[in-house]
Amino acid sequence: MTELAPSSRSHIVAVVLAAGQGKRMRASGPKVLERACGVPIVRFPLDALDGAGIARKVVVVGVGREAVVKELTGRPGVEFAVQEEQRGTAHATACAKERVLAALAGLDGTVVVLTGDSPLIRSETITALLDVHARSEADATILTGTLDDPTGYGRIVRDREGMVRRIVEEKDATADERAIREVNTGTYAFRAEALFGAIADVRPDNAQSEYYLTDVIGILVGRRHGRVAAHRVADATETHGVNRRADLARAAAVLERRILERHMDRGVEIVAPHLTWIEADVEIGERTVIEPFTTIRRGAKIGAGCHVGPYAHLAEGTVLEDGAEIGNFVEVKRTRVREKAKAKHLAYLGDGDVGPHANIGAGTIFANYDGKAKHPTVVGEGAFIGSGTVIVAPAEVGPRAVLGAGAVLAKKKIPAGETWTGVPAKPHAKRTATTGGGGS
Ligand code: UD1
Ligand code: MG
Repeated sequence: MTELAPSSRSHIVAVVLAAGQGKRMRASGPKVLERACGVPIVRFPLDALDGAGIARKVVVVGVGREAVVKELTGRPGVEFAVQEEQRGTAHATACAKERVLAALAGLDGTVVVLTGDSPLIRSETITALLDVHARSEADATILTGTLDDPTGYGRIVRDREGMVRRIVEEKDATADERAIREVNTGTYAFRAEALFGAIADVRPDNAQSEYYLTDVIGILVGRRHGRVAAHRVADATETHGVNRRADLARAAAVLERRILERHMDRGVEIVAPHLTWIEADVEIGERTVIEPFTTIRRGAKIGAGCHVGPYAHLAEGTVLEDGAEIGNFVEVKRTRVREKAKAKHLAYLGDGDVGPHANIGAGTIFANYDGKAKHPTVVGEGAFIGSGTVIVAPAEVGPRAVLGAGAVLAKKKIPAGETWTGVPAKPHAKRTATTGGGGS
């Protein structure tokens, strides 16, 4: 397949429909801000557009628009159009008209329309759609997919010759039409002029009394020289739209699988991919091993040669430097664990900075929260934190210092090399003639 020359991309503008409420999800805010793999779902189609080289994107916002605008502000090439009232996908697209025409400097160009609730679409697929659209010189090219269970999607109605006639929404379909398994993915490429001309003719005479963008297809086919093409996506999972909570979980599962594959391709050993949850925007270095039942949240940064899990939770703001080891039932949050430092069992490290080669014993808690604010804990290079200790922040354990097992260090700083023990922890008095050992 030939790719469009990059220069022709400058005649392409994308419209992402993101104004809907998501009634079927019982969402309190806008549906497109529901998260999959830690990321609002609207980000995925925008990423796919970026990957296809489509620089300019008009996002149509409505329900919870402040939140959507806030989420996407600063993304290169994104601008917004407002749909005050949610009257359907054709109406939403029409709301973007002015911005699209300004970006194209007229009606001569291509408009790619996507729904903000389809996070599985890939760049390659958008590129292929545009390629088919350019070659067929059509007014509209629909991205379709064939599903075993097409329930809920618009169906592609073709004539005997196999030409697309129209799209019928499930709620308006006859029993025969419902049996069609080829569905509308909600992604299309249009000639701008044909799109906005046909949208003007869309009427809301349907089961939902909405202005359907899908009706544009039938309108264009009915025109004298109207021409509609279709491109069938190879991998039907890309079709998947998020309308219900179960759809969101399914989409997240597919996205997460792609994330894991990307890490494995880059040399990360994920022992049991189906038992590991890694969100988007995580960095992991080569030769790092991720054991089963580990959760790694968005934005965590993990170096090379680390060992994580089983049953580790690397929450937001985790940084593991090369060779760090985080073992079972350890949560790390907003904490940097420096080179070759270890916390191998049962610990909470929050708002911390753990020095290189430091050892955090089993059952150590960084008590970072006093009920009002969070405070930092610093553990110096090569320090040794005994088992069952609580470090009440703000606190600092100096380089090569030792905190004895069971100690509670409350808002204090242990100087380099000293040993502190007890509750509350104090400098350990060396006793030579006792048999009881430390801890006083
Ligand atoms: C739509 C298509 C259907 C297709 C499916 C693919 C129509 C009429 N139907 O159905 O053929 O199979 O997507 O997933 O287009 N939106 C607005 N403003 C509105 C209404 C919707 O911005 O007034 C946005 C929503 O936020 C959403 C997208 O458009 O991101 C699609 O709307 P949704 O209600 O989910 O349409 P579907 O029923 O899924
Ligand atoms: Mg939908």
